[in-house]
Amino acid sequence: MAGFHAIETPRLILRRLELSDARTVEHLAGAVEVARTTANVPHPYPQGLAERWIRSTHAPLSSGMSIQLGLSLRADGALVGAIALVRDPPGTGGQIGYWLGLPWWGEGYMTEAVGAILEHAGQAMNLDHVIAEVFMGNVASTRVLEKTGFEFVGQAERDLPLRGGRKQVKRFERRLSGLGRSS
Ligand SMILES: CC(C)(COP(=O)(O)OP(=O)(O)OC[C@H]1O[C@@H](n2cnc3c(N)ncnc32)[C@H](O)[C@@H]1OP(=O)(O)O)[C@@H](O)C(=O)NCCC(=O)NCCS
Repeated sequence: MAGFHAIETPRLILRRLELSDARTVEHLAGAVEVARTTANVPHPYPQGLAERWIRSTHAPLSSGMSIQLGLSLRADGALVGAIALVRDPPGTGGQIGYWLGLPWWGEGYMTEAVGAILEHAGQAMNLDHVIAEVFMGNVASTRVLEKTGFEFVGQAERDLPLRGGRKQVKRFERRLSGLGRSS
């Protein structure tokens, strides 16, 4: 996917993260309310991690292996969150993850972003399904998945050292046929 092009939605631009975003990422992802329901965001958020993470997103984005993007508001360009879609090893499916800065919760932004990523997954990445895993009690994320057509497929236990050990998760799947996938 050389020359990844930003994805636009009515209110958002899903774009490559740049090193100049690092301070905002540290600030937004540094809120405990954001970190505690994710598998991978540490709390407290270590200084320098955002820059390392942003650097690590560039090669997989160029190769089309996985996309980890910033969400910017079209209105003023502010970076408000991030979304990731990581291709699984066989290559036909992917796993999605996301977080949004606290001031922008409840405005439908992540539903908009996930819808756009699913379309991209089916078309540009040629995936046939996307998985999401959500902690028990994460009502907002569960709702985002329901609104974007995911179906509950079961529960699993994951070892998540950043969240203090073993956690039960709900697994959701979204089939992508009908989203313009080129067979
Ligand atoms: C999950 C998250 C990305 C949602 O982003 P968002 O832009 O606020 O989501 P949306 O506004 O698109 O949709 C949220 C939905 O959940 C609902 N919701 C949120 N909190 C709720 C609650 N406590 N009880 C019931 N519904 C709730 C909202 O009403 C909305 O549903 P509706 O449109 O039917 O009213 C955001 O809360 C977040 O970053 N959380 C921390 C990180 C995280 O959990 N990431 C996901 C890991 S799987």
